[in-house]
Amino acid sequence: MGLMYRFLGFMFLGCLLFCKAEGAIRHYDFVVKESNFTRLCSTKSMLTVNDSFPGPEIHVHKGDTVFVNVHNQGTYGITIHWHGVKMPRNPWSDGPEYVTQCPIPAGTNFTQEINFSTEEGTLWWHAHSDWSRATVHGAIIIYPAHGTSYPYPKPYGEQTIVLASWYKADVMEVYEEAVESGAEFNTSDAFTINGQPGALFDCSTGTTFRLAVKKGETYLLRIINAILNEEMFFGIAEHNLTVVGTDGFYTKPINTEYIMITPGQTMDVLVTANQPASYYYMAASPFSDSEAAFDNATTTAILQYIGNLPVPSPIPLPALPGTNDTTAASNFTTKLRSLASSAHPISVPKNITKHILMTVSVNLIFCPNDSCSGTPDGDRLGASLNNQSFVFPKTDILEAYTRNNFSEFTTDFPLEPPIYFNFTGDVNVTVYAGQGTKVIELEYGEVVELVYQGTNIGNAQNHPMHLHGFSFFLVGTGLGNFNNQTDPDNYNLIDPPEVNTIQLPKKGWSAIRFVADNPGVWFLHCHFERHTTWGMAVAIIVKNGGTTSTSMRPRPAYMPPCPNS
Ligand code: C2O
Ligand code: CU
Repeated sequence: MGLMYRFLGFMFLGCLLFCKAEGAIRHYDFVVKESNFTRLCSTKSMLTVNDSFPGPEIHVHKGDTVFVNVHNQGTYGITIHWHGVKMPRNPWSDGPEYVTQCPIPAGTNFTQEINFSTEEGTLWWHAHSDWSRATVHGAIIIYPAHGTSYPYPKPYGEQTIVLASWYKADVMEVYEEAVESGAEFNTSDAFTINGQPGALFDCSTGTTFRLAVKKGETYLLRIINAILNEEMFFGIAEHNLTVVGTDGFYTKPINTEYIMITPGQTMDVLVTANQPASYYYMAASPFSDSEAAFDNATTTAILQYIGNLPVPSPIPLPALPGTNDTTAASNFTTKLRSLASSAHPISVPKNITKHILMTVSVNLIFCPNDSCSGTPDGDRLGASLNNQSFVFPKTDILEAYTRNNFSEFTTDFPLEPPIYFNFTGDVNVTVYAGQGTKVIELEYGEVVELVYQGTNIGNAQNHPMHLHGFSFFLVGTGLGNFNNQTDPDNYNLIDPPEVNTIQLPKKGWSAIRFVADNPGVWFLHCHFERHTTWGMAVAIIVKNGGTTSTSMRPRPAYMPPCPNS
């Protein structure tokens, strides 16, 4: 009897700890197909989901489960990824092409199960094959769980703001042309806010995105940088912004005139309509402190107070930092801190069991007989991590790994740079990266510190480094070479931001920490699309632990078939 009661008591306690109210289940249909869009005075056919650009929003509460049936009615294979959703034990639906699945063949469909756990705020989904994410993306809005609320006064209204790249050409042609030659990719022709370039572009004034606001009220902007290759400053004329969340986690409020947001990042920002009732531009323009080509365009939308108001001439534009204003970029980025309140506690890993040091470089790929036209010397442009340039296999790594097929990849990705040099000094050498499919393999439960080290090889610049399957803590960042004796003394282990994408500063380093408690295969890459294409990527395999709840879920009955295997 006593034993029985103790058993029931244990069950009850266990449930208090682990059985949070079951989340709801929601279903969506994504029809991926070509349709016509007109921007910048010209019309093209492009791939979108449900004929919309940006694509449809997914709305959930924290902890829900969503099934998305992706119907590929396009002409080539595609995959969809749920950026920033950790997908506990379920890499099968994560989506990066040739990492966790093969492309969904044209004319077929694939149902993905998206498992929300601790994320709350704004994330996004996007295609994860070639450059198709340019037009195939949309927001994921995660409301607080039922019975809980935002850690700030409930805003009067909410608006998603999606920043994207616009090419007059077919993006897949831009991609293919550069991949063939090994040369630099063409830059975009415009940026867009919610699909519209805004009034500074030809043929765009009438369609500029407008947000109507009521004087005195506060609005939540859920800002997503879905741009392919540029980090962006964003601001609203004469209005201050208050950042309250990033990457699906709450931050300590940051009061600022502008934000800096990298591709892959999301930011939740409050703005109060507390200025004279009128029209104001919101705008986004690039931050780029490198020699690499970029699109130096400003996209705008209008914040418009409700009422019968005269349109000012000109409508005021926000004074955003200059394109190469590194100080302005890092001044903002270094302000991010986790909220770390009692309702939203964080747990920063302390006892590190695995140290990884990873150089991040743009370099060259050797072409036999100087046969590539990418550089004057007949090489192609490439990019690497620890001097390894990632090559996508023909069968996805997850499938190969779970079938014990080790012909597609090796697990010997170096956990430190193959050679140590003055990474951020004057490196006046041509460095060729090795090419292959080398991955990192971690034991379940390993406590990882990963230090990204930027280098001055090739074209030094910032890199938005992203990791699937986890949120992690950015515990430190700095300029120059990382010093493993002195730099850890300055780590923030109290309230570092919990994120999925960071800005690795040009010729600097960033240290992140996470616990490898999500078994699966998880892609790690720069969120500049051109750099991922060049090989600035690696996959991390987290092995199963000893129990069901520490192991990957079984392979679903259907996974898209691999075309080349
Ligand atoms: Cu948005 Cu692999 O990422
Ligand atoms: Cu990069």
